[in-house]
Amino acid sequence: MDCQHSSNVFSSILQVDLGARSYPIHIGPGVFAQAGRLLRAVYSGRRAFVVSNPVVAFHHLATLQQGLSAAGIAVDVWQIPDGESAKNWEELYKILGWLLDARAERHTPLIALGGGVVGDLAGLAAALYQRGMPLIQAPTSLLAQVDSSVGGKTAVNHPLGKNMIGVFYQPQQVWIDTNTLSTLPSREYTSGLAEVVKYGAIRDRVFFDWLEENVQALLAREPAAVNHAIHQSCRIKATIVAADERETGERALLNLGHTFGHAIETALGYGQWLHGEAVAVGMVLAGRLSIEVCGFGQSEQQRLERLLAALKLPLACPDISLETWMTLMGRDKKVADGKMRFVLLERLGQAIVRQDIPKEALAEILTPASR
Ligand code: NAD
Ligand code: GLY
Repeated sequence: MDCQHSSNVFSSILQVDLGARSYPIHIGPGVFAQAGRLLRAVYSGRRAFVVSNPVVAFHHLATLQQGLSAAGIAVDVWQIPDGESAKNWEELYKILGWLLDARAERHTPLIALGGGVVGDLAGLAAALYQRGMPLIQAPTSLLAQVDSSVGGKTAVNHPLGKNMIGVFYQPQQVWIDTNTLSTLPSREYTSGLAEVVKYGAIRDRVFFDWLEENVQALLAREPAAVNHAIHQSCRIKATIVAADERETGERALLNLGHTFGHAIETALGYGQWLHGEAVAVGMVLAGRLSIEVCGFGQSEQQRLERLLAALKLPLACPDISLETWMTLMGRDKKVADGKMRFVLLERLGQAIVRQDIPKEALAEILTPASR
């Protein structure tokens, strides 16, 4: 993983080191205006495909199109409906039909312009179309910029579980144009901050301290603070993905709070709680469980909860029965040999995976009286 700072003080490039499948992450204001120049590093043709949704396309498609046309690249655009409920098999099939109808060739790039829903769905379509066409992730939500656009996880949801149908498929480039955040609704922005906190909590205490000191700057979306948060988040994610692309080991640490969070999203219906909101509550629960089973300090838990609350993220658990929790968490992708595995905190900046969690400890943190 490598870092270069360009002439723009807020711009940077990171590298995800995966041998022949390595790729750059371009971060900064105005990246989309450079899209054509960036794409020319991997593609010499004159056509590209863009998957987006009406909300994102309204705000940001023209800028991307202009950036591409500056290098002589024209785009065909497909829009999926807005929202998590579009991340399904039917929408995937429609994208594949559109590519076939447009006679897309397998070397032509597919650009995912949008949040994590567009990125996950278009990413899976790119992986499947003619056994794989080049994928460019152009994330526009904070959550997609710091998490879903990097690392190659693609998926659609199934009624029985979130992200259950998917493949690992790495993009060829990631374009993070931080100007796009100016149109992101506050609730979505805040949701993305939960994943930013996650990186500090699992891997980098210095970054966690920095987040505590920069809450107001982050809430005000000050460019220097936002760029630093995105850069550090992507740096940590790129390092972990490079070490464990297929999640056979340490990549599971990126799921701090997600076992609980995915259960919340599934129990309450996709789209009721935003992903980051569910992850924030999940991190609170993971912290409480960590106090019970691996010596995480009460004072560190208080710091975690204070930071999440200061960033205006929820801490309180929705009303879900213990039975429902156990059923939903039993379907988690981290389950191995029928045993649930949890990402827990030994201290801020250091996470571990544990699977020997007594049911009583889970009941203790998940039953209403203890919340
Ligand atoms: P999302 O894609 O639904 O985007 C959130 C909302 O913000 C949508 O309404 C979208 O249209 C809008 N939006 C996006 N960018 C905008 C902009 N710049 N201006 C105005 N509106 C904008 O949700 P999300 O939070 O980006 O992503 C959540 C999804 O990502 C979930 O499906 C989750 O499972 C997935 N995810 C995947 C990974 C991975 O590694 N692949 C990691 C984390 C999350
Ligand atoms: N968002 C978790 C991962 O990419 O592994």
